[in-house]
Parts: sequence; C-alpha cells; structure tokens
Amino acid sequence: QFLTSTSAAILTAGVLSQTRIALAFAQGQTPVTRLTMPPLLDTRATGRLALTTTSGRTAFAGGPGMPTAGFNQVYLGPTILMQNGDLAAEVQNTLDEPISTHWHGLLVPGEHDGGPHLAIAPGATWKPEISIAQDPATVWYHSHIHERTAEQVYFGLAGVIHMTDGQDDARGLPSAYGIDDLTLVLQDRRFDASGRMVYDPSMMDIMHGFAGNRMLINGQAGATAVVPEGIVRLRLLNGSNARIYTLFFDDTRPMHLVATDGGFLPAPVALDVLRLAPGERAEVLVDFSSGSAPVLMSDPGQAFGVVQFATDSTLAARIARLPDQLDGASEDLSGAEIATRQISLDMGMGGMMMGGGGFAINGRPFDMDRIDFEVARGTVERWQIRSTMVAHPFHVHGVRFRVVSENGGPPRPENTGWKDTVLVPGEAEILARFDQPASGDTPFMFHCHILEHEDAGMMGQFTVT
Ligand code: C2O
Ligand code: CU
Ligand code: CU
Repeated sequence: QFLTSTSAAILTAGVLSQTRIALAFAQGQTPVTRLTMPPLLDTRATGRLALTTTSGRTAFAGGPGMPTAGFNQVYLGPTILMQNGDLAAEVQNTLDEPISTHWHGLLVPGEHDGGPHLAIAPGATWKPEISIAQDPATVWYHSHIHERTAEQVYFGLAGVIHMTDGQDDARGLPSAYGIDDLTLVLQDRRFDASGRMVYDPSMMDIMHGFAGNRMLINGQAGATAVVPEGIVRLRLLNGSNARIYTLFFDDTRPMHLVATDGGFLPAPVALDVLRLAPGERAEVLVDFSSGSAPVLMSDPGQAFGVVQFATDSTLAARIARLPDQLDGASEDLSGAEIATRQISLDMGMGGMMMGGGGFAINGRPFDMDRIDFEVARGTVERWQIRSTMVAHPFHVHGVRFRVVSENGGPPRPENTGWKDTVLVPGEAEILARFDQPASGDTPFMFHCHILEHEDAGMMGQFTVT
C-alpha cells in the first residue's frame, strides 16, 4: 500500500464532502450537476480517424482556469468507436512539444503502436494506416513520450476507445452510449488551496507515484452520473497516474464483471469489490432497477467517494436482466509456451546499483537505444514478474495475456480474462502469444503503469520478429 496517510486523509476529507453535496443534489434540494460523457467519435462508416491536439484552459470545479491539453478538445479526448477492418488515422500535433498517441490495448504492429519511438513533432502529423482484428473491448489512448508521459497524461492527453462488433444486443448487454452504457475515466488530481490543478512531484511523489486530493470523472469534479432504472454497463478506466482503486458501492450492491482489458469473460462474475490499477479497464453491469442513488466508493477502511449515481425513470431501461453467458476468454494458452522470462520491477537498490535513479527492470533503467530482448513472432511465452518495494501495475504493448498465478495462487477474479495490464502484488505469472510484429526501430514497450515510475526508468523494450 503506497498511499501516504496524509494524502489519504486529504482525499477523504475533500471528496467525502463532495459526496455529501452530491447526495443533497440527488435528493432534489439543488439541481444535479450531471456527469457528461466524452463526445463520441464514430469511425465505423468512414474508416477514418482524425485527432488534433488542442491546448486551452480548463476550470475544474469552479477553480481558476488551468492550461490543459486534449485531443480535439482541451482536456481528454473523444470516445472513439472502432470496429475491425482498416482505419486511416491521422494525429496532428499543434502543441509546442512532441507527443505520441499510443493505442493502449489495440493489437497492432510496433510501427502503429504510438510508443516513444513514434513521437509527433510540434506541427507534424502522424498517419498510421491501422488494420484492426480483435475482440470487442474497452481500450484507450494516451501520449507516451519518454520522461514526459506522466505530465502529458496528467494535463489531459488521453481518451477511451470502444472496440465493437455491433453484437451487444445479441449478448444482452447495454450499449446506448451515455444512457445505459457509461464510460467513466477515473483520475485523481491534486488541487491547491486556490483550486488550481497542480503537478509538482517531489522525490516522495515519484517514489509513491503522484496522488491527487480530488476525483475527476471524465474531467469533471462533483458531477452525478444519471442512469435509467435497469441494468447499466459501466466501462471503468483507471486513467490516474498512480492511484490504485478498490471500488465498491456504499450500499454493497454487487458489480457484475463482464469484461477486462482485452475483452469479455465467459460469463458475468459478481464482485463486492473491484480492484483497478492504473492502465486497467473493467466493464461491469450494475442493477439500478430499485431507483435508489448509491455512491461508487474506493478503499474500504479509508473510504472516499468516486462517483455519485442517481436514477431517472424517464430514461429508457432497455436491459432488465443480466446475461447468463458471454462469449469471451475461452482460449487458454497454458502449456503452449516455448520460453520463460523473469522480469523484475526494480525500485531502490536493484536499479540504483546499475547506475540509474533506482527505477529499472532487471537492473537496467530504460534506454531508447537498447532492445532488452527479442521474441519469436507467433510463439507463446511465460513471464514471471516480480515487484519490489510496492505493487507495480505491469503493462505489455502489442499483446493480450492471461494471468496464470498471483503470489503462487490463482489470479483474482478481476484478472481471469484477457489482460494487458496487471497489478503485480509480489509475484505474478502471465502467458502471452506474440502475434504482432515489432522491429528494432519501433519496438514494443513493457513497463510499470505508475507513470512516474515509467518515466523514471521502469520500462524496457522488445522486438517481435
Ligand atoms: Cu498505457 Cu505503454 O502504456
Ligand atoms: Cu500500452
Ligand atoms: Cu511502479
């Protein structure tokens, strides 16, 4: 647990008072500030995607306007609806610093992956012709410039992607965007006494990851998510730099997990608490048919409010019952591996002895000019990952993987489907098949998704040939 007690206390105080205000709103005393979804950008008819970085000022929660940046808007970006097939993408960078656009969770070759080797210079446009063939999933995109990722994501360069196959009705899943299918980008941000959003990491903040004292959902503070009186799908993205959420409803209603990072589970799994580390996504179904107004909270024991819900009986509740079965995560990679690799996520002495600032993988801090290893394309590998000092969320580009074990036991329910990011408590083993190619010019990254750790050197790169 890397939360310092001070930051937990500040967060609890700040956000819990918000929760009470929101509750008063929901009880009709004052109009509810309604949570809005990012605008939807549907690429399915055109096969084109145009993103332009946009800078501007954003006033969060009535505070003073702060310089922020987003894609096609001034903070975050649109929710991009994609389907399998060809997509002609274009990302234009109008900012005065290089950015990149990494498709976190899209299974594409290294040359289209948008990692640190694919920087888009100020004034330049990147035009990858992407071809997509993967299962439906909630994916995301964010800038990924080495040593700048944490700050660029913090100030807004991130967004969500819905990979869809148009079959959600047949699956019995809600799919009306912003009505019974909500996208919730969870980000904690630090605000100073004047209400200014700040990013000024100290050495301690880099050690623990930069934590905020207030929650933003889709870039909004203190807004209420209004839902119909039926089954609602929540697509949760932990878009925070470092905070790990342990989510639960204050009235103990279950969350029915239907999809993880890489797609659907075989069937819904009822959870009382859902852990979501930076970079991870989870799709859950929640039953709001009783019409009451729960709060999604985090961190039992030191609980704080994440998002207030309210129901609106005039919204169409299209789905009244949970699906029995879904069609995901049936493939099992066990026994198919031809190689085993050890990955040690080093902090402190392990990385320091090799001359870095303490953050490293297998003793070596990240180096853009060093390929850490080569994987044979089409093969399955078993990676044994070990965390030092704290639990690190481990992410691999270009693959989806299965979690075989956590600390020697079976994986948590959240980690039983397809994943691309997994919180490694002490040790975890994963199996992945490396189908997408990546050359030495545009290798795939593997790294800790605590963005301060990643920027400080807890990242490596590999080719797939
Ligand atoms: Cu979401 Cu390499 O990142
Ligand atoms: Cu990624
Ligand atoms: Cu880390």
